[in-house]
Amino acid sequence: MAQKSTQARSEAAGASERVHGHSDFIVVSNRLPVDRIVAEDGDVGWRRSPGGLVTALAPVMATREGAWVGWHGAPDECLEPFHHANMDLIPVPLSSDEVELYYEGFANSTLWPLYHDVIAPPEFHRTWWDSYRKVNKRFAEAVATAAAKEATVWVQDYQLQLVPRYLRQMRPDLRIGFFNHIPFPPPEIFAQLPWRQAIINGLLGADLIGFQRPNDTANFLRSARRFLGASVKAKQVHVTDSGGTISHIARAEPFPISIDVGEIQELAARPDIIARSKQIREDLGNPKTVLLGVDRLDYTKGITHRLKAYGELLHDGVIKVEDAALIQVASPSRERVETYRLLREEVDGMVGRINGQFDTIQNTAVRYLHHSYPVEEMVALYLAADVMLVTALRDGMNLVAKEYVAARSRNTGALVLSEFTGAADQLRQALLVNPHDIDGLKATITRAINLPPVESSRRMRAMRRQILAHDVQRWSSEFLTTLQNKAVRDDG
Ligand code: G6P
Repeated sequence: MAQKSTQARSEAAGASERVHGHSDFIVVSNRLPVDRIVAEDGDVGWRRSPGGLVTALAPVMATREGAWVGWHGAPDECLEPFHHANMDLIPVPLSSDEVELYYEGFANSTLWPLYHDVIAPPEFHRTWWDSYRKVNKRFAEAVATAAAKEATVWVQDYQLQLVPRYLRQMRPDLRIGFFNHIPFPPPEIFAQLPWRQAIINGLLGADLIGFQRPNDTANFLRSARRFLGASVKAKQVHVTDSGGTISHIARAEPFPISIDVGEIQELAARPDIIARSKQIREDLGNPKTVLLGVDRLDYTKGITHRLKAYGELLHDGVIKVEDAALIQVASPSRERVETYRLLREEVDGMVGRINGQFDTIQNTAVRYLHHSYPVEEMVALYLAADVMLVTALRDGMNLVAKEYVAARSRNTGALVLSEFTGAADQLRQALLVNPHDIDGLKATITRAINLPPVESSRRMRAMRRQILAHDVQRWSSEFLTTLQNKAVRDDG
Protein backbone atom coordinates (compact mmCIF):
# COMPACT_ATOMS: atom_id res chain seq x y z
CA MET A 1 0.00 0.00 0.00
CA ALA A 2 2.92 2.34 0.67
CA GLN A 3 3.74 2.02 -2.99
CA LYS A 4 0.17 2.79 -4.00
CA SER A 5 0.20 5.92 -1.79
CA THR A 6 3.31 7.25 -3.45
CA GLN A 7 1.83 6.62 -6.86
CA ALA A 8 -1.43 8.34 -5.89
CA ARG A 9 0.53 11.25 -4.52
CA SER A 10 2.59 11.70 -7.64
CA GLU A 11 -0.53 11.47 -9.81
CA ALA A 12 -2.28 14.15 -7.78
CA ALA A 13 -1.63 17.75 -8.70
CA GLY A 14 0.94 19.20 -6.31
CA ALA A 15 -1.23 22.06 -5.09
CA SER A 16 -4.38 20.07 -4.41
CA GLU A 17 -2.22 17.43 -2.70
CA ARG A 18 -1.42 20.04 -0.11
CA VAL A 19 -5.08 20.95 0.39
CA HIS A 20 -6.38 17.38 0.53
CA GLY A 21 -4.80 14.24 1.88
CA HIS A 22 -4.64 11.01 -0.08
CA SER A 23 -6.91 8.65 1.89
CA ASP A 24 -10.10 7.61 0.09
CA PHE A 25 -11.59 5.79 3.03
CA ILE A 26 -11.09 6.79 6.65
CA VAL A 27 -12.34 5.11 9.79
CA VAL A 28 -12.35 7.21 12.95
CA SER A 29 -12.67 5.77 16.44
CA ASN A 30 -11.60 6.81 19.90
CA ARG A 31 -8.97 4.06 19.97
CA LEU A 32 -6.75 2.94 17.14
CA PRO A 33 -7.20 -0.78 16.40
CA VAL A 34 -3.68 -1.65 17.59
CA ASP A 35 -2.07 -2.35 20.97
CA ARG A 36 1.50 -1.43 21.75
CA ILE A 37 3.69 -4.39 22.65
CA VAL A 38 7.09 -4.20 24.27
CA ALA A 39 9.33 -7.18 23.55
CA GLU A 40 11.68 -8.63 26.15
CA ASP A 41 14.62 -6.83 24.55
CA GLY A 42 12.73 -3.54 24.95
CA ASP A 43 11.75 -3.27 21.28
CA VAL A 44 8.41 -1.53 20.83
CA GLY A 45 5.96 -2.75 18.21
CA TRP A 46 2.25 -2.88 17.50
CA ARG A 47 -0.22 -5.72 17.34
CA ARG A 48 -3.65 -5.52 15.73
CA SER A 49 -6.23 -5.55 18.53
CA PRO A 50 -8.74 -8.37 18.56
CA GLY A 51 -12.27 -7.51 17.50
CA GLY A 52 -14.70 -7.73 14.63
CA LEU A 53 -14.64 -4.08 13.58
CA VAL A 54 -11.01 -4.09 12.52
CA THR A 55 -11.36 -7.52 10.89
CA ALA A 56 -14.26 -6.26 8.82
CA LEU A 57 -12.62 -3.00 7.84
CA ALA A 58 -8.99 -4.01 7.29
CA PRO A 59 -9.68 -5.52 3.82
CA VAL A 60 -11.66 -2.40 2.81
CA MET A 61 -8.69 -0.31 3.98
CA ALA A 62 -6.26 -2.30 1.88
CA THR A 63 -8.29 -1.99 -1.33
CA ARG A 64 -9.40 1.60 -0.93
CA GLU A 65 -6.32 3.58 0.13
CA GLY A 66 -7.60 3.58 3.68
CA ALA A 67 -6.52 5.13 6.96
CA TRP A 68 -7.62 4.80 10.56
CA VAL A 69 -7.66 7.84 12.84
CA GLY A 70 -7.71 7.33 16.61
CA TRP A 71 -6.00 7.65 19.97
CA HIS A 72 -3.16 5.18 20.54
CA GLY A 73 -3.96 4.77 24.24
CA ALA A 74 -1.11 6.60 26.00
CA PRO A 75 -1.57 10.15 27.34
CA ASP A 76 0.82 13.04 26.66
CA GLU A 77 2.48 11.41 23.67
CA CYS A 78 2.51 12.64 20.07
CA LEU A 79 3.19 9.98 17.47
CA GLU A 80 3.73 10.35 13.76
CA PRO A 81 1.36 8.45 11.44
CA PHE A 82 2.60 4.91 10.83
CA HIS A 83 1.79 1.90 8.74
CA HIS A 84 0.87 -1.42 10.36
CA ALA A 85 -0.92 -4.57 9.24
CA ASN A 86 -1.73 -3.02 5.87
CA MET A 87 -3.34 0.09 7.37
CA ASP A 88 -2.26 3.72 7.61
CA LEU A 89 -2.69 4.63 11.25
CA ILE A 90 -3.01 8.28 12.24
CA PRO A 91 -2.66 8.79 16.00
CA VAL A 92 -4.56 11.64 17.67
CA PRO A 93 -2.81 12.77 20.89
CA LEU A 94 -4.65 13.23 24.19
CA SER A 95 -3.15 14.96 27.22
CA SER A 96 -3.62 13.47 30.72
CA ASP A 97 -6.16 16.21 31.42
CA GLU A 98 -8.10 15.27 28.30
CA VAL A 99 -8.06 11.60 29.25
CA GLU A 100 -9.63 12.65 32.54
CA LEU A 101 -12.14 15.18 31.21
CA TYR A 102 -13.04 13.90 27.73
CA TYR A 103 -12.55 10.12 28.03
CA GLU A 104 -13.13 9.20 31.70
CA GLY A 105 -15.37 12.22 32.22
CA PHE A 106 -17.76 13.13 29.42
CA ALA A 107 -17.55 9.89 27.41
CA ASN A 108 -17.62 7.41 30.27
CA SER A 109 -19.22 9.20 33.22
CA THR A 110 -21.78 11.34 31.33
CA LEU A 111 -22.69 9.66 28.02
CA TRP A 112 -22.08 6.01 28.92
CA PRO A 113 -24.47 5.92 31.92
CA LEU A 114 -26.96 8.30 30.23
CA TYR A 115 -27.16 6.06 27.15
CA HIS A 116 -27.44 2.89 29.26
CA ASP A 117 -30.75 3.56 31.01
CA VAL A 118 -29.04 5.69 33.70
CA ILE A 119 -28.07 2.46 35.53
CA ALA A 120 -25.43 4.63 37.20
CA PRO A 121 -26.22 8.33 37.62
CA PRO A 122 -24.64 10.42 34.85
CA GLU A 123 -22.64 13.46 35.89
CA PHE A 124 -22.87 16.73 34.01
CA HIS A 125 -19.84 19.03 34.14
CA ARG A 126 -19.18 21.95 31.83
CA THR A 127 -15.42 21.39 31.93
CA TRP A 128 -15.96 17.82 30.68
CA TRP A 129 -18.17 19.08 27.86
CA ASP A 130 -15.60 21.70 26.83
CA SER A 131 -12.94 19.03 26.62
CA TYR A 132 -15.25 16.69 24.63
CA ARG A 133 -15.83 19.46 22.09
CA LYS A 134 -12.16 20.29 21.84
CA VAL A 135 -11.08 16.66 21.38
CA ASN A 136 -13.85 15.95 18.84
CA LYS A 137 -12.64 18.92 16.84
CA ARG A 138 -9.07 17.60 16.93
CA PHE A 139 -10.25 14.23 15.57
CA ALA A 140 -12.17 16.02 12.82
CA GLU A 141 -9.10 18.09 11.92
CA ALA A 142 -6.96 14.97 11.65
CA VAL A 143 -9.52 13.46 9.25
CA ALA A 144 -9.89 16.67 7.25
CA THR A 145 -6.12 16.71 6.69
CA ALA A 146 -5.86 13.05 5.68
CA ALA A 147 -8.95 12.76 3.47
CA ALA A 148 -8.75 12.84 -0.31
CA LYS A 149 -11.32 14.82 -2.25
CA GLU A 150 -14.79 13.26 -1.86
CA ALA A 151 -13.45 10.53 0.38
CA THR A 152 -15.71 8.35 2.51
CA VAL A 153 -15.35 8.73 6.27
CA TRP A 154 -16.86 6.36 8.83
CA VAL A 155 -16.98 7.71 12.39
CA GLN A 156 -17.46 5.18 15.20
CA ASP A 157 -19.28 5.48 18.51
CA TYR A 158 -20.42 7.80 21.29
CA GLN A 159 -17.01 9.30 22.06
CA LEU A 160 -17.07 11.14 18.70
CA GLN A 161 -20.62 12.35 18.15
CA LEU A 162 -19.57 15.89 17.22
CA VAL A 163 -17.09 14.76 14.58
CA PRO A 164 -19.63 14.47 11.70
CA ARG A 165 -20.71 18.11 12.10
CA TYR A 166 -17.18 19.53 12.48
CA LEU A 167 -16.07 17.50 9.52
CA ARG A 168 -18.90 18.66 7.27
CA GLN A 169 -18.00 22.26 8.14
CA MET A 170 -14.34 21.67 7.32
CA ARG A 171 -14.83 19.40 4.31
CA PRO A 172 -18.30 19.56 2.73
CA ASP A 173 -17.04 17.34 -0.12
CA LEU A 174 -16.78 14.26 2.13
CA ARG A 175 -19.29 11.46 2.42
CA ILE A 176 -19.77 10.89 6.14
CA GLY A 177 -21.17 7.87 7.97
CA PHE A 178 -21.55 7.44 11.72
CA PHE A 179 -22.24 4.27 13.70
CA ASN A 180 -23.27 4.24 17.35
CA HIS A 181 -22.15 0.99 19.00
CA ILE A 182 -24.09 1.61 22.20
CA PRO A 183 -27.82 2.21 22.72
CA PHE A 184 -29.37 5.59 21.97
CA PRO A 185 -31.64 6.56 24.87
CA PRO A 186 -35.30 7.60 24.65
CA PRO A 187 -35.82 11.39 24.51
CA GLU A 188 -37.27 11.33 28.05
CA ILE A 189 -33.80 10.34 29.33
CA PHE A 190 -31.71 12.12 26.68
CA ALA A 191 -33.53 15.31 27.75
CA GLN A 192 -31.34 15.45 30.88
CA LEU A 193 -28.24 16.28 28.85
CA PRO A 194 -27.58 20.04 28.99
CA TRP A 195 -25.92 19.80 25.55
CA ARG A 196 -28.59 17.65 23.89
CA GLN A 197 -29.06 19.98 20.92
CA ALA A 198 -25.35 20.12 20.14
CA ILE A 199 -25.08 16.32 20.21
CA ILE A 200 -28.02 15.82 17.84
CA ASN A 201 -26.62 18.55 15.61
CA GLY A 202 -23.22 16.87 15.70
CA LEU A 203 -24.66 13.55 14.53
CA LEU A 204 -26.76 15.20 11.86
CA GLY A 205 -23.54 16.28 10.15
CA ALA A 206 -23.43 12.70 8.80
CA ASP A 207 -25.15 11.47 5.64
CA LEU A 208 -25.95 8.14 7.26
CA ILE A 209 -26.32 7.49 11.01
CA GLY A 210 -26.36 3.81 11.96
CA PHE A 211 -27.70 2.33 15.18
CA GLN A 212 -27.80 -1.21 16.58
CA ARG A 213 -31.58 -1.59 16.90
CA PRO A 214 -34.70 -0.11 15.32
CA ASN A 215 -35.54 1.26 18.80
CA ASP A 216 -32.29 3.24 18.98
CA THR A 217 -33.01 4.70 15.55
CA ALA A 218 -36.53 5.70 16.60
CA ASN A 219 -35.20 7.25 19.84
CA PHE A 220 -32.72 9.34 17.90
CA LEU A 221 -35.30 10.55 15.37
CA ARG A 222 -37.72 11.44 18.16
CA SER A 223 -34.98 13.48 19.85
CA ALA A 224 -34.10 15.23 16.57
CA ARG A 225 -37.75 16.22 16.24
CA ARG A 226 -38.25 17.18 19.85
CA PHE A 227 -35.06 19.07 20.61
CA LEU A 228 -34.25 20.60 17.24
CA GLY A 229 -37.70 20.76 15.68
CA ALA A 230 -36.16 18.81 12.78
CA SER A 231 -38.35 17.69 9.92
CA VAL A 232 -38.24 13.88 9.83
CA LYS A 233 -39.78 11.85 7.03
CA ALA A 234 -39.30 8.12 6.61
CA LYS A 235 -36.06 7.98 8.66
CA GLN A 236 -34.69 11.01 6.81
CA VAL A 237 -33.91 14.30 8.51
CA HIS A 238 -33.84 17.41 6.37
CA VAL A 239 -30.90 19.29 7.84
CA THR A 240 -31.01 23.03 7.37
CA ASP A 241 -28.27 25.62 7.66
CA SER A 242 -28.53 28.79 9.77
CA GLY A 243 -30.49 30.50 6.98
CA GLY A 244 -33.11 27.72 6.95
CA THR A 245 -32.04 26.24 3.57
CA ILE A 246 -31.78 22.45 3.39
CA SER A 247 -28.05 21.66 3.38
CA HIS A 248 -28.31 17.90 3.19
CA ILE A 249 -30.42 14.92 4.14
CA ALA A 250 -29.26 12.73 7.02
CA ARG A 251 -30.63 9.22 7.10
CA ALA A 252 -30.90 7.11 10.28
CA GLU A 253 -31.15 3.32 10.08
CA PRO A 254 -30.49 0.21 12.15
CA PHE A 255 -27.46 -1.94 11.22
CA PRO A 256 -27.03 -4.59 13.95
CA ILE A 257 -23.31 -5.33 14.23
CA SER A 258 -21.95 -8.86 14.29
CA ILE A 259 -18.71 -10.80 14.69
CA ASP A 260 -16.05 -12.39 12.51
CA VAL A 261 -17.92 -15.69 12.30
CA GLY A 262 -15.26 -17.30 10.08
CA GLU A 263 -12.48 -16.68 12.59
CA ILE A 264 -14.47 -18.04 15.55
CA GLN A 265 -15.51 -21.12 13.60
CA GLU A 266 -11.96 -21.77 12.49
CA LEU A 267 -10.65 -21.50 16.03
CA ALA A 268 -13.46 -23.70 17.35
CA ALA A 269 -12.37 -26.45 14.95
CA ARG A 270 -8.66 -26.28 15.82
CA PRO A 271 -7.48 -29.48 17.60
CA ASP A 272 -5.30 -27.59 20.11
CA ILE A 273 -8.22 -25.36 21.11
CA ILE A 274 -10.57 -28.33 21.44
CA ALA A 275 -7.92 -30.03 23.59
CA ARG A 276 -7.61 -26.88 25.70
CA SER A 277 -11.38 -26.82 26.25
CA LYS A 278 -11.25 -30.41 27.54
CA GLN A 279 -8.36 -29.46 29.78
CA ILE A 280 -10.41 -26.59 31.23
CA ARG A 281 -13.23 -28.99 32.17
CA GLU A 282 -10.75 -31.41 33.66
CA ASP A 283 -9.08 -28.68 35.70
CA LEU A 284 -12.51 -27.84 37.10
CA GLY A 285 -12.89 -31.48 38.23
CA ASN A 286 -15.14 -32.51 35.31
CA PRO A 287 -18.38 -31.13 36.75
CA LYS A 288 -21.69 -32.05 35.11
CA THR A 289 -22.26 -28.45 34.10
CA VAL A 290 -19.89 -25.62 33.29
CA LEU A 291 -21.48 -22.17 33.24
CA LEU A 292 -19.69 -19.17 31.78
CA GLY A 293 -19.91 -15.39 31.95
CA VAL A 294 -17.59 -13.17 29.88
CA ASP A 295 -17.78 -9.41 30.23
CA ARG A 296 -15.84 -6.22 30.60
CA LEU A 297 -16.13 -5.40 34.30
CA ASP A 298 -18.89 -2.85 33.68
CA TYR A 299 -22.06 -2.06 35.65
CA THR A 300 -24.17 -2.40 32.50
CA LYS A 301 -23.34 -6.12 32.24
CA GLY A 302 -25.48 -7.33 35.18
CA ILE A 303 -22.64 -9.32 36.76
CA THR A 304 -23.92 -8.74 40.29
CA HIS A 305 -27.44 -9.86 39.29
CA ARG A 306 -25.96 -13.04 37.83
CA LEU A 307 -23.90 -13.73 40.95
CA LYS A 308 -26.87 -13.08 43.21
CA ALA A 309 -29.00 -15.58 41.28
CA TYR A 310 -26.19 -18.14 41.24
CA GLY A 311 -25.47 -17.73 44.95
CA GLU A 312 -29.16 -18.23 45.77
CA LEU A 313 -29.34 -21.36 43.60
CA LEU A 314 -26.41 -22.79 45.57
CA HIS A 315 -28.06 -21.74 48.81
CA ASP A 316 -31.38 -23.31 47.79
CA GLY A 317 -29.57 -26.56 46.94
CA VAL A 318 -30.79 -26.42 43.33
CA ILE A 319 -27.13 -26.31 42.26
CA LYS A 320 -24.47 -28.31 44.08
CA VAL A 321 -20.88 -27.11 44.07
CA GLU A 322 -19.75 -30.66 43.16
CA ASP A 323 -21.96 -30.68 40.06
CA ALA A 324 -21.50 -27.22 38.59
CA ALA A 325 -18.81 -24.59 38.15
CA LEU A 326 -19.32 -20.99 37.12
CA ILE A 327 -16.41 -19.32 35.34
CA GLN A 328 -16.72 -15.55 35.35
CA VAL A 329 -14.23 -13.71 33.18
CA ALA A 330 -14.40 -9.99 33.99
CA SER A 331 -11.82 -8.11 31.97
CA PRO A 332 -10.47 -4.93 33.59
CA SER A 333 -12.02 -1.76 32.18
CA ARG A 334 -11.93 2.00 32.83
CA GLU A 335 -10.32 1.35 36.18
CA ARG A 336 -9.76 4.99 37.09
CA VAL A 337 -13.49 5.78 36.92
CA GLU A 338 -15.09 5.71 40.38
CA THR A 339 -18.23 3.71 39.44
CA TYR A 340 -15.99 1.00 37.95
CA ARG A 341 -13.84 0.91 41.09
CA LEU A 342 -16.92 0.53 43.26
CA LEU A 343 -18.27 -2.23 41.01
CA ARG A 344 -15.00 -4.12 41.28
CA GLU A 345 -15.18 -3.98 45.07
CA GLU A 346 -18.77 -5.19 44.97
CA VAL A 347 -18.02 -8.10 42.63
CA ASP A 348 -14.86 -9.07 44.58
CA GLY A 349 -16.95 -9.09 47.76
CA MET A 350 -19.81 -11.13 46.30
CA VAL A 351 -17.50 -13.76 44.81
CA GLY A 352 -15.60 -13.96 48.10
CA ARG A 353 -18.81 -14.48 50.05
CA ILE A 354 -20.21 -17.11 47.67
CA ASN A 355 -16.96 -19.05 47.56
CA GLY A 356 -16.44 -18.72 51.31
CA GLN A 357 -19.85 -20.23 51.91
CA PHE A 358 -20.00 -22.97 49.26
CA ASP A 359 -16.45 -24.04 48.32
CA THR A 360 -15.12 -27.37 49.43
CA ILE A 361 -11.47 -28.33 49.48
CA GLN A 362 -12.04 -29.85 46.04
CA ASN A 363 -14.56 -27.51 44.43
CA THR A 364 -14.83 -23.79 43.85
CA ALA A 365 -18.27 -22.30 43.23
CA VAL A 366 -17.13 -19.33 41.12
CA ARG A 367 -13.84 -19.10 39.23
CA TYR A 368 -13.50 -15.36 38.99
CA LEU A 369 -10.87 -14.19 36.50
CA HIS A 370 -10.14 -10.48 36.45
CA HIS A 371 -8.05 -10.68 33.27
CA SER A 372 -8.26 -10.27 29.53
CA TYR A 373 -7.56 -13.35 27.43
CA PRO A 374 -6.56 -13.89 23.82
CA VAL A 375 -9.32 -14.99 21.47
CA GLU A 376 -7.95 -18.58 21.39
CA GLU A 377 -8.54 -18.99 25.12
CA MET A 378 -11.98 -17.37 24.83
CA VAL A 379 -13.02 -19.89 22.19
CA ALA A 380 -11.71 -22.74 24.37
CA LEU A 381 -13.91 -21.38 27.18
CA TYR A 382 -16.94 -21.19 24.85
CA LEU A 383 -16.35 -24.81 23.87
CA ALA A 384 -16.02 -25.85 27.51
CA ALA A 385 -19.26 -24.14 28.62
CA ASP A 386 -22.61 -25.90 28.66
CA VAL A 387 -24.42 -22.73 29.63
CA MET A 388 -23.50 -19.18 28.64
CA LEU A 389 -24.86 -16.40 30.85
CA VAL A 390 -25.38 -12.95 29.30
CA THR A 391 -27.38 -10.91 31.79
CA ALA A 392 -26.68 -7.31 30.76
CA LEU A 393 -29.04 -4.66 32.14
CA ARG A 394 -28.57 -2.74 28.88
CA ASP A 395 -26.22 -3.50 26.01
CA GLY A 396 -26.04 -2.02 22.51
CA MET A 397 -25.44 -5.49 21.04
CA ASN A 398 -23.36 -8.00 23.09
CA LEU A 399 -20.94 -9.80 20.84
CA VAL A 400 -20.06 -12.44 23.44
CA ALA A 401 -23.51 -14.00 22.93
CA LYS A 402 -22.86 -14.16 19.19
CA GLU A 403 -19.37 -15.59 19.64
CA TYR A 404 -20.68 -18.37 21.88
CA VAL A 405 -23.24 -19.34 19.24
CA ALA A 406 -20.64 -19.21 16.44
CA ALA A 407 -18.31 -21.49 18.41
CA ARG A 408 -20.95 -24.19 19.11
CA SER A 409 -20.63 -26.08 15.85
CA ARG A 410 -22.07 -29.25 17.37
CA ASN A 411 -25.33 -27.46 18.19
CA THR A 412 -24.98 -28.16 21.89
CA GLY A 413 -25.14 -25.73 24.80
CA ALA A 414 -27.65 -23.19 26.09
CA LEU A 415 -27.57 -19.42 25.89
CA VAL A 416 -29.26 -17.43 28.65
CA LEU A 417 -29.65 -13.95 27.16
CA SER A 418 -30.91 -10.71 28.60
CA GLU A 419 -33.80 -9.20 26.68
CA PHE A 420 -32.10 -5.82 27.16
CA THR A 421 -29.30 -6.58 24.70
CA GLY A 422 -29.34 -5.73 21.01
CA ALA A 423 -28.41 -9.38 20.37
CA ALA A 424 -31.81 -10.49 21.74
CA ASP A 425 -33.42 -9.03 18.60
CA GLN A 426 -31.51 -11.54 16.47
CA LEU A 427 -31.11 -14.51 18.83
CA ARG A 428 -34.79 -15.12 19.46
CA GLN A 429 -34.24 -18.80 20.31
CA ALA A 430 -32.00 -18.02 23.29
CA LEU A 431 -33.51 -18.44 26.76
CA LEU A 432 -34.46 -14.79 27.18
CA VAL A 433 -34.49 -13.24 30.66
CA ASN A 434 -35.14 -10.03 32.51
CA PRO A 435 -32.02 -9.92 34.72
CA HIS A 436 -33.74 -7.64 37.26
CA ASP A 437 -36.16 -10.48 38.01
CA ILE A 438 -33.89 -12.61 40.20
CA ASP A 439 -36.47 -15.41 40.59
CA GLY A 440 -36.98 -15.44 36.81
CA LEU A 441 -33.21 -15.49 36.29
CA LYS A 442 -32.83 -18.40 38.74
CA ALA A 443 -35.58 -20.33 36.96
CA THR A 444 -34.00 -19.69 33.56
CA ILE A 445 -30.51 -20.74 34.70
CA THR A 446 -32.03 -23.93 36.13
CA ARG A 447 -33.89 -24.53 32.90
CA ALA A 448 -30.69 -23.99 30.88
CA ILE A 449 -28.79 -26.51 33.02
CA ASN A 450 -31.54 -29.10 32.47
CA LEU A 451 -32.44 -28.29 28.88
CA PRO A 452 -33.21 -31.54 27.00
CA PRO A 453 -30.59 -32.10 24.25
CA VAL A 454 -33.25 -32.09 21.53
CA GLU A 455 -34.44 -28.67 22.58
CA SER A 456 -30.99 -27.15 23.03
CA SER A 457 -29.96 -28.47 19.63
CA ARG A 458 -33.09 -27.05 17.97
CA ARG A 459 -32.47 -23.65 19.55
CA MET A 460 -28.75 -23.60 18.81
CA ARG A 461 -29.29 -24.64 15.20
CA ALA A 462 -31.72 -21.77 14.61
CA MET A 463 -29.41 -19.24 16.29
CA ARG A 464 -26.44 -20.47 14.29
CA ARG A 465 -28.38 -20.05 11.06
CA GLN A 466 -28.93 -16.42 11.95
CA ILE A 467 -25.32 -15.72 12.98
CA LEU A 468 -23.72 -17.58 10.10
CA ALA A 469 -25.75 -15.54 7.62
CA HIS A 470 -24.96 -12.21 9.30
CA ASP A 471 -21.27 -11.71 9.97
CA VAL A 472 -19.45 -8.45 10.56
CA GLN A 473 -18.22 -8.35 6.95
CA ARG A 474 -21.84 -8.27 5.80
CA TRP A 475 -22.61 -5.60 8.38
CA SER A 476 -19.86 -3.27 7.19
CA SER A 477 -20.60 -3.79 3.51
CA GLU A 478 -24.32 -3.12 4.05
CA PHE A 479 -23.52 0.10 5.89
CA LEU A 480 -21.03 1.29 3.28
CA THR A 481 -23.29 0.36 0.37
CA THR A 482 -26.17 2.27 1.92
CA LEU A 483 -23.89 5.26 2.46
CA GLN A 484 -22.74 5.06 -1.13
CA ASN A 485 -26.24 4.66 -2.60
CA LYS A 486 -27.60 7.41 -0.44
CA ALA A 487 -25.10 9.83 -1.89
CA VAL A 488 -26.09 8.74 -5.39
CA ARG A 489 -29.78 9.32 -4.56
CA ASP A 490 -29.03 12.76 -3.12
CA ASP A 491 -27.02 13.76 -6.17
CA GLY A 492 -29.78 12.54 -8.45
C1 G6P B 1 -17.60 -0.45 24.29
C2 G6P B 1 -17.64 0.79 23.42
C3 G6P B 1 -16.33 0.93 22.64
C4 G6P B 1 -15.14 0.86 23.58
C5 G6P B 1 -15.18 -0.45 24.37
C6 G6P B 1 -14.03 -0.58 25.39
O1 G6P B 1 -17.68 -1.60 23.51
O2 G6P B 1 -18.75 0.77 22.55
O3 G6P B 1 -16.31 2.17 21.96
O4 G6P B 1 -13.93 0.98 22.88
O5 G6P B 1 -16.42 -0.50 25.07
O6 G6P B 1 -14.01 0.51 26.24
P1 G6P B 1 -12.74 1.49 26.35
O7 G6P B 1 -13.23 2.62 27.21
O8 G6P B 1 -11.68 0.67 27.02
O9 G6P B 1 -12.34 1.92 24.97
